[in-house]
Amino acid sequence: MAGLAFLAMSCDQGNRAGNGALSSNIAEKVYIAPGERDEQYGFLSGGYSGNLTVYGLPSGRMFKEIPVFSQFPTSGYGYSEETKPMLNTSFGFVPWDDLHHPDISQTKGELDGRWIFANGNNTPRIARISLTTFETEEIIEVPNSAGNHSSSFITENTEYVVAGTRFSVPVPQRDMPISEYKSNFKGALTFIAVDPEHGHFNIKFQLIMPGFNYDLSHPGRDKSHGWFFFSTYNTEEANTLLEVNASQNDKDFIAAINWKKIEAYVNNGGGKKVPARYAHNVYDESTHTATSTIKEEVLTVDPSDVPGAIYFLPTPKSPHGCDVDPSGQYIIGSGKLSADITVHSFDKMLAAIDAKKFDGEAYGIPILNYDDILAGTVQSGGLGPLHTEFDGRGNAYTTFFISSEVVKWKLGTWEVIDRQPTFYSVGHLMIPGGNSRKPHGKYLVAMNKITKDRYLPTGPEMEHSAQIYDISGEKMQLLYDFPTHGEPHYAAGCDAELIVNNSKKIYRLDENKHPYAITSPAQAKVERKGNEVHIYMSTIRSHFTPDNIEGIKVGDKVYFHITNHEQDFDVPHGFSIIGQGTSEILIMPGQTKTSLWEPKRVGVWPFYCTDFCSALHQEMQGYVRVSPANANIELSWSLDE
Ligand code: CUA
Repeated sequence: MAGLAFLAMSCDQGNRAGNGALSSNIAEKVYIAPGERDEQYGFLSGGYSGNLTVYGLPSGRMFKEIPVFSQFPTSGYGYSEETKPMLNTSFGFVPWDDLHHPDISQTKGELDGRWIFANGNNTPRIARISLTTFETEEIIEVPNSAGNHSSSFITENTEYVVAGTRFSVPVPQRDMPISEYKSNFKGALTFIAVDPEHGHFNIKFQLIMPGFNYDLSHPGRDKSHGWFFFSTYNTEEANTLLEVNASQNDKDFIAAINWKKIEAYVNNGGGKKVPARYAHNVYDESTHTATSTIKEEVLTVDPSDVPGAIYFLPTPKSPHGCDVDPSGQYIIGSGKLSADITVHSFDKMLAAIDAKKFDGEAYGIPILNYDDILAGTVQSGGLGPLHTEFDGRGNAYTTFFISSEVVKWKLGTWEVIDRQPTFYSVGHLMIPGGNSRKPHGKYLVAMNKITKDRYLPTGPEMEHSAQIYDISGEKMQLLYDFPTHGEPHYAAGCDAELIVNNSKKIYRLDENKHPYAITSPAQAKVERKGNEVHIYMSTIRSHFTPDNIEGIKVGDKVYFHITNHEQDFDVPHGFSIIGQGTSEILIMPGQTKTSLWEPKRVGVWPFYCTDFCSALHQEMQGYVRVSPANANIELSWSLDE
């Protein structure tokens, strides 16, 4: 019995290691010795966590969670007065979203490591995150959109980040019967211009498309630069029981959009401005403060006004992923109810357009003939293809949700080269740079939807699981499992060197333009304006200035404006006070942040530093005396008096 058990165990371990290779050889490939650094960054979407997580590859070590659409007590994001405006929307303060598809900025089709973009699915928003500070710098709400899913992908020179609606809705929103969906609901595809220097957003135009569901998208690149491709499903325009009613048509479409043509149309005065309320939130690094502006109108474009700009590419079986290879020639549609992968040819598409060879139209948009544009079909042997990435060596890698595997195949010959199981039910995959002209194709990260038995159990809820494969050889080799946070939907990655040298270490105090900043502890003060009290506070190892404050009254709104006077890398101080209705705040060297406290009770209340900043961190504390609302206690403050 013992012998049998041993056999079964070693066999199992052999499978896990992949192809019978020695575990120790594989371990060497992911082992980063203490003090050594990873080769690559991986930025994984956090799905319903609303945030983005940063990993090292190949180690799978998590370095950071960057708050984007969700409040984050770890740093005070969305709780501090400076960052609350980042989460403002036309619906008011929305402190959560469902973050899906990160994409790194590009120049000439190659990753440039300046910013990473991400979409909020639920209350449609697009965010821009600095890869210098790893902070969210800008969020723009997307009007006329719902379930912002075919987002946030960028064009080759980061001219635009696109935001495509998943749900079609009444445009403009209004009270109407749901049963009148067909031909009345619309799908907005939004092109947000990105300022080349500062990255600032501006909605250039919204294409008001037929009422399909727009699922995923990718930009044309190289030869197809100037085009954007969006997969659709529910071309049936069903409004109920979509699992049946949106699976009627044998083929849905990939929408091919010549955005350069539409841009020219718009630049010549085309399009129609319509009322639309949406928030535009910008964080200013010099004031360390965000502002939120509500915009009132948006420029819409009716496809029928720009003939020759949009075509439909018939694609079998409710396509999900819509991916473009590094040469820009192949547009890959993964019918999620299919076994095969459909590959369209960009050259054939242009030829069919030139020849005006169409197979009907939908709402005035010409439909191309499937056989005319088909480059090839990958007879994968798998089931449920979802997403495809590329290694830059002529190979494509597609995930299969139902058959739970990654399939490697060759562009041009469509032959399957290798397949490896995933554990379990893989959704997205990511090859660093895999969505650019120049993939950094050494590792592949598979992001799995089901974890089950991969880790020690943690009750009914398990974190999702990712797996790293070495793809440098002919065959993929599974190296490692690591847990992820939230639900990763896509990821972006790049070589570490693209980011490391630009990474900010401190904020310079002499550049701090926060209106409540103080340049030295000697300037610390407390001011009362009616029932508002503003405390200009300093932190430096290991004390607050001031640390004794009296004259605060019940009913006051007390603003702690705290400047961290350190100018050393990795020396934040934190601040928290008892009974506070927000979170602590973490203040980086040279930064000013504000915490609002509304004392409800008379007493003497302590505050303390939340970050273990020195050997005397526990001494970094202070007291606020709170007196009755009608008390006559003079406002006073001190340190060591
Ligand atoms: Cu400052 Cu702990």
